[in-house]
Amino acid sequence: MESEISRENILMDIPVKELIRSALEARKKAYAPYSGYTVGAAVLTNELRIYTGCNIENASYTPTICAERTAIAKAVSEGWRKLKAIAVVGSEKGDTVGQYAFPCGVCRQVLREFADEQFIVIVAKSESDYKIYRLIELLPESFGPEKLKSGRKL
Ligand code: THU
Repeated sequence: MESEISRENILMDIPVKELIRSALEARKKAYAPYSGYTVGAAVLTNELRIYTGCNIENASYTPTICAERTAIAKAVSEGWRKLKAIAVVGSEKGDTVGQYAFPCGVCRQVLREFADEQFIVIVAKSESDYKIYRLIELLPESFGPEKLKSGRKL
Protein backbone atom coordinates (compact mmCIF):
# COMPACT_ATOMS: atom_id res chain seq x y z
CA MET A 1 0.00 0.00 0.00
CA GLU A 2 1.24 3.44 -0.88
CA SER A 3 1.46 5.48 2.31
CA GLU A 4 2.11 8.75 0.58
CA ILE A 5 -1.22 10.14 -0.55
CA SER A 6 -1.56 11.17 -4.16
CA ARG A 7 -1.46 14.93 -4.33
CA GLU A 8 -4.30 15.39 -6.76
CA ASN A 9 -7.36 14.20 -4.91
CA ILE A 10 -7.12 15.49 -1.37
CA LEU A 11 -5.72 18.94 -1.37
CA MET A 12 -8.41 20.97 -3.02
CA ASP A 13 -8.85 23.51 -0.25
CA ILE A 14 -5.47 23.19 1.43
CA PRO A 15 -2.98 25.94 0.53
CA VAL A 16 -0.01 23.58 0.63
CA LYS A 17 2.63 26.01 -0.56
CA GLU A 18 1.47 28.80 1.71
CA LEU A 19 1.55 26.45 4.69
CA ILE A 20 5.08 25.32 3.84
CA ARG A 21 6.18 28.90 3.29
CA SER A 22 4.72 29.84 6.69
CA ALA A 23 6.47 26.91 8.38
CA LEU A 24 9.79 27.83 6.76
CA GLU A 25 9.38 31.40 7.98
CA ALA A 26 8.48 30.22 11.51
CA ARG A 27 11.55 27.97 11.59
CA LYS A 28 13.71 31.10 11.45
CA LYS A 29 12.39 31.97 14.93
CA ALA A 30 13.29 28.61 16.47
CA TYR A 31 15.09 28.77 19.79
CA ALA A 32 17.20 25.63 19.75
CA PRO A 33 20.58 26.38 21.35
CA TYR A 34 20.91 22.88 22.84
CA SER A 35 19.99 20.54 19.99
CA GLY A 36 20.81 22.84 17.11
CA TYR A 37 17.77 21.31 15.38
CA THR A 38 15.35 23.99 14.27
CA VAL A 39 11.73 23.32 13.41
CA GLY A 40 8.88 25.39 12.02
CA ALA A 41 5.23 24.42 11.76
CA ALA A 42 2.08 25.97 10.37
CA VAL A 43 -1.40 24.71 11.19
CA LEU A 44 -4.48 25.40 9.12
CA THR A 45 -7.81 25.75 10.93
CA ASN A 46 -11.11 24.62 9.42
CA GLU A 47 -11.78 28.30 8.78
CA LEU A 48 -8.54 28.44 6.75
CA ARG A 49 -6.60 30.54 9.21
CA ILE A 50 -2.91 29.78 9.58
CA TYR A 51 -1.05 29.74 12.91
CA THR A 52 2.69 29.14 13.04
CA GLY A 53 5.10 27.90 15.66
CA CYS A 54 8.74 27.05 16.26
CA ASN A 55 10.49 24.82 18.75
CA ILE A 56 11.44 26.53 22.00
CA GLU A 57 14.11 24.76 24.02
CA ASN A 58 15.00 25.20 27.67
CA ALA A 59 18.17 24.90 29.74
CA SER A 60 16.28 22.40 31.87
CA TYR A 61 15.60 20.37 28.68
CA THR A 62 12.24 18.78 29.53
CA PRO A 63 10.22 22.02 29.25
CA THR A 64 11.16 22.15 25.57
CA ILE A 65 8.14 22.53 23.32
CA CYS A 66 8.00 21.36 19.73
CA ALA A 67 7.11 23.63 16.85
CA GLU A 68 3.89 21.76 16.16
CA ARG A 69 2.60 22.20 19.69
CA THR A 70 3.56 25.87 19.73
CA ALA A 71 1.42 26.36 16.60
CA ILE A 72 -1.47 24.29 17.96
CA ALA A 73 -1.42 26.23 21.25
CA LYS A 74 -1.59 29.48 19.34
CA ALA A 75 -4.56 28.36 17.26
CA VAL A 76 -6.49 26.84 20.15
CA SER A 77 -5.79 29.72 22.50
CA GLU A 78 -7.23 32.05 19.88
CA GLY A 79 -10.40 29.98 19.83
CA TRP A 80 -9.82 27.69 16.81
CA ARG A 81 -10.30 24.10 17.89
CA LYS A 82 -10.87 22.38 14.58
CA LEU A 83 -7.69 21.90 12.64
CA LYS A 84 -7.40 20.70 9.08
CA ALA A 85 -3.71 20.38 8.24
CA ILE A 86 -0.17 21.05 9.38
CA ALA A 87 3.09 21.65 7.53
CA VAL A 88 6.36 20.86 9.31
CA VAL A 89 9.93 21.70 8.35
CA GLY A 90 12.91 20.78 10.49
CA SER A 91 16.61 20.33 10.14
CA GLU A 92 19.96 21.08 11.66
CA LYS A 93 20.43 24.84 11.96
CA GLY A 94 20.98 26.54 8.63
CA ASP A 95 19.01 27.63 5.65
CA THR A 96 18.65 24.33 3.90
CA VAL A 97 16.27 21.62 5.05
CA GLY A 98 17.93 18.37 4.11
CA GLN A 99 15.37 15.93 5.43
CA TYR A 100 11.67 15.50 6.06
CA ALA A 101 10.87 16.16 9.72
CA PHE A 102 7.93 14.11 10.94
CA PRO A 103 5.98 15.18 14.03
CA CYS A 104 7.08 13.37 17.19
CA GLY A 105 4.69 11.01 18.96
CA VAL A 106 3.59 13.61 21.49
CA CYS A 107 2.74 16.11 18.75
CA ARG A 108 0.82 13.47 16.79
CA GLN A 109 -1.30 12.84 19.87
CA VAL A 110 -1.87 16.55 20.47
CA LEU A 111 -2.86 17.00 16.82
CA ARG A 112 -5.28 14.09 17.22
CA GLU A 113 -7.18 16.05 19.86
CA PHE A 114 -8.16 18.74 17.34
CA ALA A 115 -8.19 16.73 14.12
CA ASP A 116 -10.72 14.65 12.26
CA GLU A 117 -10.02 11.63 10.06
CA GLN A 118 -9.18 13.81 7.07
CA PHE A 119 -6.43 15.74 8.84
CA ILE A 120 -3.39 16.22 6.61
CA VAL A 121 0.27 16.25 7.63
CA ILE A 122 2.72 17.82 5.20
CA VAL A 123 6.43 17.26 5.75
CA ALA A 124 8.55 19.47 3.56
CA LYS A 125 12.05 20.34 2.55
CA SER A 126 10.89 23.27 0.43
CA GLU A 127 7.76 24.62 -1.22
CA SER A 128 8.21 22.18 -4.07
CA ASP A 129 9.64 19.18 -2.21
CA TYR A 130 7.16 17.70 0.22
CA LYS A 131 5.24 14.59 1.22
CA ILE A 132 1.66 14.36 2.30
CA TYR A 133 0.07 11.96 4.77
CA ARG A 134 -3.11 11.69 6.72
CA LEU A 135 -2.68 11.86 10.50
CA ILE A 136 -4.57 8.57 10.70
CA GLU A 137 -1.68 6.88 8.86
CA LEU A 138 0.91 8.35 11.22
CA LEU A 139 -1.14 7.56 14.34
CA PRO A 140 -3.26 4.49 13.66
CA GLU A 141 -5.63 2.97 16.24
CA SER A 142 -5.29 6.15 18.25
CA PHE A 143 -6.87 7.23 21.49
CA GLY A 144 -8.95 10.38 21.15
CA PRO A 145 -11.54 12.47 22.97
CA GLU A 146 -14.50 10.50 21.67
CA LYS A 147 -13.25 7.45 23.60
CA LEU A 148 -14.04 9.11 26.90
CA LYS A 149 -17.51 9.09 28.40
CA SER A 150 -17.58 12.82 28.65
CA GLY A 151 -17.07 12.88 24.86
CA ARG A 152 -15.68 15.54 22.61
CA LYS A 153 -16.39 19.06 23.70
CA LEU A 154 -14.98 21.01 20.83
N1 THU B 1 11.14 18.97 17.66
C1 THU B 1 10.06 19.62 17.14
O1 THU B 1 9.97 20.85 17.21
N2 THU B 1 9.09 18.87 16.56
C2 THU B 1 9.10 17.52 16.48
O2 THU B 1 8.13 16.92 16.06
C3 THU B 1 10.31 16.78 16.84
C4 THU B 1 11.32 17.54 17.62
C5 THU B 1 12.19 19.77 18.30
C6 THU B 1 12.30 19.58 19.78
C7 THU B 1 13.73 19.93 20.04
O3 THU B 1 13.82 21.34 20.22
C8 THU B 1 14.45 19.58 18.75
O4 THU B 1 13.45 19.42 17.78
C9 THU B 1 15.25 18.30 18.85
O5 THU B 1 14.50 17.28 19.36
